[in-house]
Amino acid sequence: MKLFDVYPINHINIVKGQGCLVWDNLGQEYLDLYGGHAVISIGHTHPHYVARLTEQLNKIGFYSNSVEVPLQVQLAEKLGRISGREDYQLFLCNSGAEANENALKLASFANGRKKIVAFTKAFHGRTSLAVAATDNPKIVAPVNENPNIIRLPFNDSDALKAVFDDEGEEICAVIIEGIQGVGGIQVASAEFLQAIRNLCNQHGAYFIADAVQCGYGRSGKFYSQDYAAVDADIYSMAKGMGNGFPIGAISISPNLKPWHGMLGTTFGGNHLACAAALAVLDVMEQENLMANASKVGDYLITELKKFDKVLEVRGRGLMIGIDLPPELSHVRKELLEKHHIFTGTASPNVIRLLPPLNLTQAYADRFLEAFAKSI
Ligand SMILES: Cc1ncc(COP(=O)(O)O)c(C=O)c1O
Repeated sequence: MKLFDVYPINHINIVKGQGCLVWDNLGQEYLDLYGGHAVISIGHTHPHYVARLTEQLNKIGFYSNSVEVPLQVQLAEKLGRISGREDYQLFLCNSGAEANENALKLASFANGRKKIVAFTKAFHGRTSLAVAATDNPKIVAPVNENPNIIRLPFNDSDALKAVFDDEGEEICAVIIEGIQGVGGIQVASAEFLQAIRNLCNQHGAYFIADAVQCGYGRSGKFYSQDYAAVDADIYSMAKGMGNGFPIGAISISPNLKPWHGMLGTTFGGNHLACAAALAVLDVMEQENLMANASKVGDYLITELKKFDKVLEVRGRGLMIGIDLPPELSHVRKELLEKHHIFTGTASPNVIRLLPPLNLTQAYADRFLEAFAKSI
């Protein structure tokens, strides 16, 4: 059997990782400023993570949600405390798309409505409703097309208000990334997030913060939406949550009440996944990684803004977009092939930095030197 060829890949075989570095099968070292698409939060093969997962696997790796899993309770308590949402409720699943799918479903169960407001350039995943809310017709199959999605311009409070004035009593939820990732690192303004909060309150709709990419401390705050100092009703998360072990979740406001059978999953919240997520939170706390993301991120953003040829530098913490003119479209490839630095991309010509949250200033400088040479 052959692989189903859906990924335009780099022909590099990564066989080892440690912290912010990875190595290929030929022994070549790379600086990883991509983190496997914002997934590696505490660094590759962190010793505490490896020890905690190994220990758990030697006890039990999986049992289903038909029995008590005390690790889930520990995770809920720790995540509630670190995210500043101790009164919220946790539902565990396996990926970002699944988290958003459950968030939207839960909102619709709760207020009985169908219309979902989502924004231009949004990416929410590839499952049915998540992909319908995503602003990319190329990846929406005919069966996923959904007339209940209302697409509005990002950061446009007037357009949002106009839609709520017209059909506010039919709107189930508004879903928004605090910093759009796939959309090219576009930061939602505090004013816009506050407008969403107020309009949802006025009209009985739910505010869903997609924190799959911009959450889990990456922006320097636990959820990037926290910069607006408002609470969402539901936060979806995944990526950095398990540092590579597949786990996703939604953190749900106390206003939303569960009933048995409302949501469910076979794998979600299994012992091994919870051990991975707990290890990540242990390290984030012990090594002060949110503060580090903020400090090293600020440094990178300040230094990158000094390059005349860069059109714009956007982002917060260690979620940074470098907007380049078309004549510099070679830079990302050169960073990888010549300087052995992994970065991400977004169209038309944005380099995306999504490194582990323990990135040091020395590694940031290594990148800045290579970037200077490439442009
Ligand atoms: C903001 C956002 N939401 C949802 C998803 C989907 O996550 P997953 O690929 O884990 O399903 C992604 C993935 O890139 C994302 O960036």
